[in-house]
Order: sequence, then structure tokens, then C-alpha cells
Amino acid sequence: MNIVIFGPPGAGKGTQSKFIAQKYNLFQLSTGELLRKEIKNKTELGSKISSIINSGELVSDNIVSNLIEKFISNDIYKQRLIFDGYPRSLAQVRNLENLLNKYNQKIDLVLKLSVSLDTIKKRISERKTQEKRLDDSEEIAIKRFKTYEDSTEPVIDYYKKSNLLKFVNGETTISKINVEISDLIDSIKGWH
Ligand code: AP5
Ligand code: MG
Repeated sequence: MNIVIFGPPGAGKGTQSKFIAQKYNLFQLSTGELLRKEIKNKTELGSKISSIINSGELVSDNIVSNLIEKFISNDIYKQRLIFDGYPRSLAQVRNLENLLNKYNQKIDLVLKLSVSLDTIKKRISERKTQEKRLDDSEEIAIKRFKTYEDSTEPVIDYYKKSNLLKFVNGETTISKINVEISDLIDSIKGWH
């Protein structure tokens, strides 16, 4: 099963992806985490993207597409991926469809976690004290939310037409959301 998980910054994409990956033996593919790893490891790519990430903008479609192809093309992860934070623009939707076709795969479920801007601000300011993500200041979190509204919300409209999209209330507790997502996954026929 391949799953796409959407939601604004702080919605719980990473938290829920980790849980689903463990429970269903899938692999969490977080483009944000992959990009942060490049910065942490001081790679050439990392130095190119750090100012973009730390300003709350999206890095180029090409860069992200190259990163995710490494996973989509790897048989170990075939039909076992959770896309956390990808696709984030209509161009990325097309890239993803092309890559999935190329490697004979498909998306089975698209989850959208909804949370308010107030909740986002609260969660991100709490996380800032623990994880020290450079893009977790309130100002940049608001910028990331704006980027999400401008670039990513049109992607959700696109998936609305596909019947794969399910909305999940991201404002409740982590464990309640776990249960809701598990029920959605379990309801998909032919999946064990
Ligand atoms: P990315 O890393 O994806 O950041 P994001 O979308 O801003 O989302 P976050 O990781 O901040 O939040 P989350 O939804 O994962 O929430 P989490 O589970 O951590 O992207 C970062 C940057 O990379 C982008 O801005 C962009 O520059 C670049 N990038 C990434 N992908 C890209 C792409 N495809 N194209 C181009 N550029 C790309 O939860 C947040 C906090 O809340 C945690 O502390 C958690 O413990 C807590 N929490 C979670 N759920 C709950 C709950 N239900 N109740 C209470 N607390 C909760
Ligand atoms: Mg995340």
C-alpha cells in the first residue's frame, strides 16, 4: 500500500506517518527529513537548500523528485511507501504520477490532516524547544502555512476528484487519530 499524507506544518504528518509505518510495515518517506539530513551532513545540495527551507519556501521540484526516485525505484520499498510532505504542488503531482507509472506502482490512499493556524502555532512553538528545527520560529511557521495554502491546497482539490482522499480531524489526540487512520487503512479491500 502506498499512502500520501497531507496537512499544514505541525498537522501531525510525521507523527502519524511513523505510527502507520510501524504498524503496517511501511516506509516513511518524509521529503522534509531527507532535505534536513542533507543540510545536517553539509552536502553540496544541503548548502544550496538551507536558506530556502529556513525561509519557509519550497525547494525546487527537480531536487525533491530526484530524492524520492531513489526510494520509488528501490524494490525493497515497492508499494510500501508513505509520502509525508510530498507532493506539495501540482507539478509534483505530475512528477509523482510519472514516477509511480515508471516503476509500476500506484497510490492507494490519500489522507488530509486538518488543523487550525492557532494549533499549528502552539505545536510548533512546543516542538521548537525540543527539536531545534531552524524553520520553527513563529514567523517562519506562518510563512510555511502560507506556502501550504498557496501551493499545496490546490493539490488536495486535485485528489478530491480521485476518490482516494480521506479527511482526518488533526485537532484531537494523537492516539484518536491513530485509530481513525488505522480504520481507514483496514477498510481498504485486498490489503493485509
Ligand atoms: P516538512 O518537514 O515537511 O515540514 P512541514 O510540512 O512544515 O511539517 P512539519 O514537519 O512541521 O509538521 P508535521 O505535519 O510533520 O507535524 P509533526 O508530526 O512533526 O518540510 C520542511 C520544509 O522542507 C518545507 O518548508 C520546504 O522548504 C521543504 N520541503 C519539504 N517537502 C518538500 C517538497 N515536497 N517540495 C519542496 N520543498 C519541500 O507534529 C508537530 C508537533 O506537534 C510535534 O511536536 C508533535 O509531537 C505534535 N503533535 C502531533 N500531533 C499532535 C496531536 N494530535 N496533538 C498534540 N500534539 C501533536
Ligand atoms: Mg514533519
